[in-house]
Amino acid sequence: MFGLIKRWKALEAKGIMGINRRNADFVLKYNKRHLYPIVDDKIITKERAIEAGIQVPEMYGIISTEKEIEKLDSIIGERNDFVIKPAQGAGGDGILVIADRFEGNYKTVSGRIISRDEIEYQLSSILTGLYSLGGHRDRALIEYRVTPDPIFKSISYEGVPDIRIIVLMGYPVMAMLRLPTRQSNGKANLHQGAIGVGVDLATGSTLRGTWLNRKIAKHPDTANAVDGVQLPFWDGFMKLAAGCYELCGLGYIGVDMVLDQDKGPLILELNARPGLNIQIANDCGLVGRTQAVEAHLESLRAKGIEETPEQRVKFAQSLFGHVPQREI
Ligand SMILES: Nc1ncnc2c1ncn2[C@@H]1O[C@H](COP(=O)(O)OP(=O)(O)O)[C@@H](O)[C@H]1O
Ligand SMILES: [Mg+2]
Repeated sequence: MFGLIKRWKALEAKGIMGINRRNADFVLKYNKRHLYPIVDDKIITKERAIEAGIQVPEMYGIISTEKEIEKLDSIIGERNDFVIKPAQGAGGDGILVIADRFEGNYKTVSGRIISRDEIEYQLSSILTGLYSLGGHRDRALIEYRVTPDPIFKSISYEGVPDIRIIVLMGYPVMAMLRLPTRQSNGKANLHQGAIGVGVDLATGSTLRGTWLNRKIAKHPDTANAVDGVQLPFWDGFMKLAAGCYELCGLGYIGVDMVLDQDKGPLILELNARPGLNIQIANDCGLVGRTQAVEAHLESLRAKGIEETPEQRVKFAQSLFGHVPQREI
């Protein structure tokens, strides 16, 4: 605990953003309430993304009522792998990643055998709102299972790593690669036990990481170094994230993306209240960067200029490249 406080204190000196500041100066200020459903419901996000020509994992079907649970077989068809998730879930809860069939049952990525009854139970838990924000009724979404690009093999354990970029008014400000661990059950959410690794915005090269609030340099399951890995398609990820401002209209978001081995970069979801641990992973606070974007926007406004996603990416990459901190 003491180590953690010390770390946050050290980061504070680097302009760390705390939860109160995030809520008051960013979430409340830049995110209009009536736009929340676009990001809080993954089915609506998907529909919006498709309209905007942005690639997402294909949706196989939606289950909205108990009666519709019987549609599951026809939704899955002959497929052996798929993902079931609550449309309004968060933090990786309630997500079932099925990797294969096994003698009339199903198998998760971590090898757990799941019966048909368990799947139905999971679906009905989702519908009753067990995983939804605010606990109200929800829908279950069944979608394509992403197979991560082989680049992640050495630095990840099962499951799908994702790339989170924080975007302020269409400007990427900080990025993190999240790697599943044995503990996180194939999911890349930090509070499920995944690792957060900082990413240099300018180059897409990985920095060091954080795991369960500790600083780490190696993946605990594979023992491989997590830093110095060049993420492919980096400029593509940056442009995809920047373009999500036009997609949803929210000014302060966390964009979650994955790299599928066949389909390339895909948007997984958008978050209206992105977490703050990304600052630990990057060993850098958000405040200096958000101030730079706000000052830039101010000067553009005075000139009556609005920048395109490409220009916004360029701005971010020229300013927010990682400058190695000297070890003290
Ligand atoms: N279609 C998918 N294929 C494989 N893994 C997935 C898929 N969707 C989600 N996951 C895994 O679950 C994690 C959480 O999914 P996400 O859609 O971001 O929901 P949440 O809002 O709960 O974070 C992802 O980071 C990824 O590791
Ligand atoms: Mg997520």
